[in-house]
This record gives sequence, structure tokens and C-alpha cells, in this order.
Amino acid sequence: MDDLRQKYLDLIAGVADEAALEDLRVAAVGKKGEISLQMRELGRMTPEERQEAGPRLNALKDEINAALAAKKAGLADAALDERLRAEWLDVTLPARTRRQGTIHPVSQVTEELTAIFADMGFAVAEGPQVESDWFNFDALNIPAEHPTRTEMDTFYMHRDAGDDRPPHVLRTHTSPVQIRAMQANGAPIRVIAPGRVYRADYDQTHTPMFHQVEGLAIDRDLSMANLKWVLEEFCRAYFEVDHVELRFRASHFPFTEPSAEVDLRCSWEGGQLKVGEGDDWMEILGSGMVHPKVLQAAGIDPDQWQGFAFGMGIDRIAMLKYGIPDLRAFFESDLRWLRHYGFAALDQPTLHGGLSR
Ligand code: DAH
Repeated sequence: MDDLRQKYLDLIAGVADEAALEDLRVAAVGKKGEISLQMRELGRMTPEERQEAGPRLNALKDEINAALAAKKAGLADAALDERLRAEWLDVTLPARTRRQGTIHPVSQVTEELTAIFADMGFAVAEGPQVESDWFNFDALNIPAEHPTRTEMDTFYMHRDAGDDRPPHVLRTHTSPVQIRAMQANGAPIRVIAPGRVYRADYDQTHTPMFHQVEGLAIDRDLSMANLKWVLEEFCRAYFEVDHVELRFRASHFPFTEPSAEVDLRCSWEGGQLKVGEGDDWMEILGSGMVHPKVLQAAGIDPDQWQGFAFGMGIDRIAMLKYGIPDLRAFFESDLRWLRHYGFAALDQPTLHGGLSR
């Protein structure tokens, strides 16, 4: 019995985990364990033998059970200690420095121009980026064989052979939103439509995705004079200068008649853009009086209504105002670039509070 006792006490002392300890418990005091079998032998003993062996066996069993329980508690403590050590965390350490995100220049400029045009009564209209070729071209008086369709390096959506759904494109300009807005609201109407547009083109000033803002105003008797005033007001507010001078250059767009490209007087002295002074002219947008066929396509009677439209590159005017040299960097998500050119997240551009500070 002493051998048995020593054997199990040694084994229990050497056990390394709870599973091995359980195996040991079964081997010693389980139903068919060595000590349990010994207890069964009691029945075959003489009463005298039994009186001597019984209490000793019971004491042995109690001792082994106690040793098992103590070891089990010890193992649990050790496991907890190990977790506490491994999962230790110094809550008194200073927190990670908080990096504040910045507003991307495209978002900033979109907010700025939205604020400026809202002040002149223009609402914001939206349209899909995957657009039917009818909205992107036909409704804007750009028929199927018109060179503009190829000039714009259009991305066409894939169609399987036999799929006869109308062709769709990634919109090449924001002008289709003119049609959608007129269809939805009729006339009179005053909207701008900022958003993403797509063309297969890539160099320092072209990326396959870029941003435009469309402007549209339709009423009974709007003229080029109203267009000019609106654009002057916009440029003054946007470039944050008191004086601007615009030059209208005759041009051609299928969706306007007459059409004009608009240049802004500026100087580039010392590589720095100054708006409103100097002898240079910088082209900033295309515009004109909305073509009667475009009004008709949108369900508006050209004998009753007329108005102007314009289209401008948001990325381009962002580059000009904030002196950003390369368009491609706009879309590379380089955090260093964003920290340098980004804007404080909580400063909403407003006309009264300042557009860009
Ligand atoms: N849609 C033209 C483009 O993407 C820009 C444009 C020119 C829009 C004249 C207009 C406009 O609304 O009247 O190049």
C-alpha cells in the first residue's frame, strides 16, 4: 500500500496538464483503477484483515483524491498565470497618437462649388455612372456616327452576342444628367451635377476616371448674358478674388448653340497662378445655350423655354486653385499626399465662413 501511495503521489507531482491528470485519476481511483480494485479485495479478507486494511485503504484513497484536487487547482492557477502574463497590457501607456483624416481636394472643391452655386439657386442633381448611350450621346444631339463618340475615348459596357439590351457606357461627361434632371423636373430648372466621368486616357493631366460639374439653367428668357454673370460670380467666389475677367471664345458642342469656351484672365508669374490679373488666358470650361433638340429630347418645349449649360473639370480647377501639379496623384491614395493636400475634416466650406481658409 505504501508503494501504491508513493507511486501515485510521484505521478501526480509530475503531471503537466489537466488531461494527463484526468488519465491518472482514472488509473488510480476510477472504477477500474488500481486503488479501487484493491478495495474490492476487502470482501475476500477475514474480518481481522479487513479491519486493519479497510481504514488504511480509505485513507489512501482520500489522500490520492486530495492530491489530485490540489494538483488540479495548481494547474488551473498556472494556466491563469500564463494567460495573465501573455495577455498583459499596460493601460497606463500613452494611447496611440490619433491621426485625423483629411478631406480629399476633389471632395473639398465639390463642396466649395456646391456652396457657391447653391447661393445662386442651383440644386444638385445626380445620374448614374453607367449610362445608356441614349442619355450620354443621342439625347445630347450626338448621333451614332458623330466623331465625338470616338473623340471621347468611350468605355463601352460588355454585351454578349445576342444580348440586345441598349448599349451602355461609362458616362464620358456629366451632360447626360441635364437630360435626366429636365425629364424629372421639367422647366424652369437650375441645377448643377458634379460627379465622376470616364474616358480611356492617361497622362499627367488625364486619368481614366475624373470629375466634372455640369451646370444647367432653363427658364423663359435666359441668355448668354446670364451665363456670363453666373460664371463670373462663380469664378470670383471660387478663386476667392474680388475681380475676374472672362473671355468667351466661339466654339462648338453638339448640345449647345451657340457654344463658347470660356477663358479666365490670369498670370503665371513665378509659376504662381494669379486670377484676375496679367496677360494670360486660361481655358476653364465649355458652355453655351442649350440646343433646341436637347430640350426636345428631355420633353421640354423649345418654343417656350431656353437656357444655358456649362461643363467644367473639377479636378482641373482643384489643381489650379491649390497648385497641385499632377492629376494622377489624386487617385493614388498616398497618405503623404493626402496629408499635404487634404483639408480639415470639420471645416465645411461656406460662403460666409470662408471656402478654403
Ligand atoms: N460635356 C462637355 C465635355 O465633357 C463639356 C460641356 C461643354 C458641357 C459645353 C456643357 C456645355 O454643358 O454646354 O467636354
